[in-house]
This record gives sequence, C-alpha cells and structure tokens, in this order.
Amino acid sequence: MKNIIVGNWKMNPKTKKEAESLAKSVIKGIGSSSKVDVVIAPPHVFLGAISGSKAVSLGAQDAFYEPSGSQTGEVSPLMVKSLGVKYVILGHSSRRARGETDEVIAKKVIEVLKSGLVPIVCIGERERDHDGRFLAAIKDQLMSAFSKVARKDITKVIVTYEPVWAISANKSSHPASPGDANEAALFIRKTLAHNYGIPIAKKVRIIYGGSSNAKNAESFLAEREVAGLLVGSASLNAKEFVEMVKCAR
Ligand code: PGA
Repeated sequence: MKNIIVGNWKMNPKTKKEAESLAKSVIKGIGSSSKVDVVIAPPHVFLGAISGSKAVSLGAQDAFYEPSGSQTGEVSPLMVKSLGVKYVILGHSSRRARGETDEVIAKKVIEVLKSGLVPIVCIGERERDHDGRFLAAIKDQLMSAFSKVARKDITKVIVTYEPVWAISANKSSHPASPGDANEAALFIRKTLAHNYGIPIAKKVRIIYGGSSNAKNAESFLAEREVAGLLVGSASLNAKEFVEMVKCAR
C-alpha cells in the first residue's frame, strides 16, 4: 500500500505570502518522487494562491455537505476542487470540539466523494481507559463516517487514527506509541472487515496523526497497519516535513 503524508497547516501561516513560500519550499524539497502520496492542506483562503505539483497534491481542511447555496461562510467540495484540491480532511478533532457531529461528518464524506475528491476522515478517542472502552468511541465515529458510503466507494476513503490526547496543540500531549497506533489501526481495519468484508478492508488506507515529526515518523511508518501520517505542527517547517516524506519513501 502506498504511503501518504498529509500536512495539515491548520490556521497557519498568517499571510498569503508566507503560505506561498512554505508551499514552494515543500514542493522544491519533495522533487518529483511518486513513491509516496504527499498532500499539503493550507487554509481555504490560500488555496487559490498555491498550486501543487506532480508530486504534491492540494488538500482542504474541511468542506460543506452541499455543492452551493445559502450557507454563509461555508466552502463546498466543488469549490475547492475548482482550485485544484484532491483531498479533503473531515472530522478533525478541533472541529468536533466546536460542535461538528458524526452526522454532519457523514454527510460531508458523501458530498466530498460525490465531487470526486478523497475524504481523509479523522477519528480518535479523547482519552484512553485501561478497560479498552476507548475502542467503542473509535468504532462509533468510524461506522458513522462510513454509514452513507456506497460499498464501491469504501476503499476511496482514507481513515486517520488521531487520538485527541496525542495532538500537539493540546496541553500535556504526547504521541501515541507506534505499537498503540498500530493496534488502533488494526482495530479499525477489523471493524471495516466485519462490516464490508476482508478484501475491501485490506484496501483502506489507515494513517496516524498526533505529534508526529521527523524524529518519530519512521517508527510509525514501520508499523504494518499504518500507511502514512497526518502531520500538524511539523508540516509548518518545510525541511522537517520533507524529511518525513523521505522516511515514507
Ligand atoms: P500535530 O497535529 O501533528 O501538531 O499533533 C496533528 C493534527 O491535529 O492533525
């Protein structure tokens, strides 16, 4: 399975000029390798100013569940597609924390697929308990996100296992251990296999997110079930991000 490294810039950098310069440095550093899929997801407002390259695709950090209409401030999958976007991150925990529900995320997954884009769906528990109850939270988020997806489209969706406690923006965060990330990814794959069969489940790319960086990237990518990384803060440093992509090659 081809690895995918996704840079989630979140609400950074502050200006269009800085965004252009960051994108340029990443694109230059990556060169033309096609051994790994690379995505950068700048804020919506910068998408028009940045073009990807053969080796670096553009992603959006969210998109609404209708193609157009009266939703003030929203942006649709078709709109970002017209700017060259190929991937859309959905259900990030920072959006869930501000009220985005599983139901809304499920609708967005469908609209993104309908528009011919690839959804990257984030799921993950807020905290871990010793009895494994966190697995139920992961399962609920996963099954809800896939609830409206047609069988033929299941393998188009990328799932990010991103435990909230591991995201660098959260106080006292720490990365999951590679083993824990692998175990959760395996649980996700088994859940998909149970619902859609093994051949389909085997083809779904499951990636890890949460305090990944150039130092730990290799250990996550060495895990059998982990086919890539969703990178937050480390993706704002072109050199570090490029190094992570090199690990994935
Ligand atoms: P982080 O963010 O790599 O800074 O922990 C990951 C994310 O929130 O997508």
